[in-house]
Amino acid sequence: MTPQHLADIHHAAFPQERAWSADEFESLLDSTSVALFHRPHGFALTRTIAGESELLTLAVAPAFHRQGLGRALMLEWLATLEGASSTAFLEVAADNTAAGRLYRNLGFAEVGRRTAYYARKNMTSVDAIVMAYKVT
Ligand SMILES: CC(C)(COP(=O)(O)OP(=O)(O)OC[C@H]1O[C@@H](n2cnc3c(N)ncnc32)[C@H](O)[C@@H]1OP(=O)(O)O)[C@@H](O)C(=O)NCCC(=O)NCCS
Repeated sequence: MTPQHLADIHHAAFPQERAWSADEFESLLDSTSVALFHRPHGFALTRTIAGESELLTLAVAPAFHRQGLGRALMLEWLATLEGASSTAFLEVAADNTAAGRLYRNLGFAEVGRRTAYYARKNMTSVDAIVMAYKVT
């Protein structure tokens, strides 16, 4: 999957937020701590450092939502952490019901909140919920 393809899916999946450019994806992928899990219409990008792994972004093209892709990408990431990392983290916008439900069903639990963390294009902002998952 090319950086441009990642940027296209990200742009389609996050219409209310600043789109990440192909250059940004390219430089993230240059890092040895960053991993990409992908399917033709969705991807998860993660970073693992010193026993902690973080979900940088998860995006599925809208036409392919609710077909199990997001869950499959998350499970693929979490499977790679077994025996290697102690905790997985992510941040999700407080109003993102779909992603919040996906993460809770996978076993992530809220551990904190960042107030007004996500700036929206309409000049509003939304809290970020910080969630963690204990890798067993
Ligand atoms: C969040 C996202 C990645 C989910 O991907 P997806 O492939 O549609 O999700 P799945 O089909 O694997 O769904 C898994 C579970 O998530 C939850 N879920 C997914 N979409 C949902 C929705 N629209 N409403 C409520 N729950 C939803 C459900 O619990 C679902 O299980 P179910 O279908 O058995 O009820 C996708 O909606 C997306 O790309 N959204 C825009 C970008 C985004 O918000 N990324 C996450 C940022 S933290």
